[in-house]
Amino acid sequence: MIFPETFGAQISPQTGTLEPALAHDLLQDRKALLFRGFGLTADTFCEFSESLGEGFMDYQGGAFERKAINQNPTLLSVTGEGQSFAVPFHGEMYYRRHKPQLLWFYCAVAPSKGGETTLCDGAEFFKRLSRRTRDLFLKRRIAYIRRYTPQQWHVIYQTSDEAEVRAVCERNGLECRLSPSGELETRYETSAVVHDASGQPMFINNVLPILMQERVWLLDSNLVRFTGNESISDDIFQELLEVSAALEVAIPWQTGDVVLVDNRRLMHGRREIEDLKRKVLVRMSNLKQLEQTSNASRELSCGPTATVMS
Ligand SMILES: [Fe+2]
Repeated sequence: MIFPETFGAQISPQTGTLEPALAHDLLQDRKALLFRGFGLTADTFCEFSESLGEGFMDYQGGAFERKAINQNPTLLSVTGEGQSFAVPFHGEMYYRRHKPQLLWFYCAVAPSKGGETTLCDGAEFFKRLSRRTRDLFLKRRIAYIRRYTPQQWHVIYQTSDEAEVRAVCERNGLECRLSPSGELETRYETSAVVHDASGQPMFINNVLPILMQERVWLLDSNLVRFTGNESISDDIFQELLEVSAALEVAIPWQTGDVVLVDNRRLMHGRREIEDLKRKVLVRMSNLKQLEQTSNASRELSCGPTATVMS
């Protein structure tokens, strides 16, 4: 069994279908779905994701450079493609106002070993923290601070136009400062704790990958601080790593797998990649309303189509 009792479900042709209304209901209940054995290609993956998702996002202003696949700006390579580093738990794009509700992962080439995508439940993560740490993150807001050379922000923001970068930052609630020599600094203040519809607190944010970059990779271009510029202590960093290890659910990829993740309730990451042939693609979207989903289900066609991955 890949998933624990608390979240996640595996769907195969023996146990279910790709019918969008079914996936919609299951996702509400289980927060993550693994579709295995349906023989999806990159094209049919896109069709399937569009039957349940809407408002597909590109990655302008994202944390890393990602490549668009098949000239589709909403079909992306995963972070650090061709690199092996592990990615600790995070919510996708929690360093800005507009975040995708859903993440869609598609495994085009399974690795022979390693490189599992990892998941954990944000509410459970919050509950496992010490009372002191819970209180601290409930009380104190955090700030994500990023500094870019001109060359870096031209790549990350996919433009060299200062007015455009200012507009993207403004839409996403980021303060943005451009120096006379063209360096960009952005700042986004938020809480590390979000709440679900019932008011339950969930620890979902980008704190861990950024602390990892600062404390382990010794980079200073991407920082997270409590507001007032106070550092997050090493003790808290250790505690977050311990809770991560205790809650980690790892999905070993098979070629053709699709994993759908509710980015509002789960965090995700990945284990170190040991086989660089691993090719996992990602899409980010919002969830269609159920009524639209029902219409889409009548139109859905997920039969095999000839697709050559670039
Ligand atoms: Fe991510």
